[in-house]
Amino acid sequence: MSNVTYYFSGTGNSYYVAKTISNNINAILKPIVSLKKGDIIEADTLCFVFPIYDFKPPKKVTDIIENLSSIKANRIIAIGTYGIALSSSLNHFNNTLRKKGVALSQGYGIKSPHNAVGSTGFTEEENNIRLAHADKKIAIISKNLKEGITGFVERTSIFEDRTIIRQFPNLMSFLFKLIFKGAKSFSFTVMQDCISCNQCINICPINNIEWVNGKHVFGSDCTGCFACLQWCPKAAIHLGKYSFEEIFIKHYHHPKVKAIDLIQGTHNQDHVKNGLY
Ligand SMILES: Cc1cc2nc3c(=O)[nH]c(=O)nc-3n(C[C@H](O)[C@H](O)[C@H](O)COP(=O)(O)O)c2cc1C
Ligand code: SF4
Ligand code: SF4
Repeated sequence: MSNVTYYFSGTGNSYYVAKTISNNINAILKPIVSLKKGDIIEADTLCFVFPIYDFKPPKKVTDIIENLSSIKANRIIAIGTYGIALSSSLNHFNNTLRKKGVALSQGYGIKSPHNAVGSTGFTEEENNIRLAHADKKIAIISKNLKEGITGFVERTSIFEDRTIIRQFPNLMSFLFKLIFKGAKSFSFTVMQDCISCNQCINICPINNIEWVNGKHVFGSDCTGCFACLQWCPKAAIHLGKYSFEEIFIKHYHHPKVKAIDLIQGTHNQDHVKNGLY
């Protein structure tokens, strides 16, 4: 049986980790959205890499796992990339695996540049330090995998490195906007700067954006990965009437990942085949 890595990624942090580790341990790299209901996964080392949303794995990721027919692997590893705190998110993931009768052999967190609300609170230098730290952690994880070390699942306090406390004013300000304006006023809005390049449509990992009658239509299946807005070359996707800065979001995607890397992992393969990218 071969080694397989499944990834989910909006802005490339998790993709970069998944790709580098797969190279190091000779694993086949696959997007987790390629799995369908009823599929069976079989692998020697099975690795899942995903971002942390609201201190949990993305719902899309746990939904996909729950809908599998079975998982057979000699060891299962999960790696969560995160911007604030790992917290007990990998234990959440382990609970999902347990429903399928399997469990994690190891779980790791990799602190990475934050890509969502509050990310304006981090400097470029801090992001670069995190990226360098991520490379070191990838090397440690790869070494552990090669040496067959198992038996621990990392978790941290929600106050890890006091990052959440530093973010508190921005997060509270966002929360007040959310409470007083309502969640609907934060729905995705495409502004006039749009150049109709289709990148948002193609990069959405779950095909949640359509072009209907000359307009972008966002579906109801959004998993909140921020790929569409973070990869838009014109920053033309706002959350309601708010620009990125007004809700403390910094433009970010991993410096060593290109849009095409993620587009190749979505369901929108026609554009790739047709040579649009
Ligand atoms: C909607 C959303 C919610 C997030 N929630 C958290 C969180 O609860 N804790 C955290 O540490 N990071 C959180 N993040 C930050 C991401 O987990 C982090 O930047 C991750 O590395 C992004 O990975 P990607 O580039 O593979 O998409 C969140 C990001 C998004 C888009
Ligand atoms: S990525 Fe941005 S510019 Fe391109 S179609 Fe989408 S909203 Fe328009
Ligand atoms: S609509 Fe945007 S945020 Fe939602 S899943 Fe698609 S790319 Fe991610």
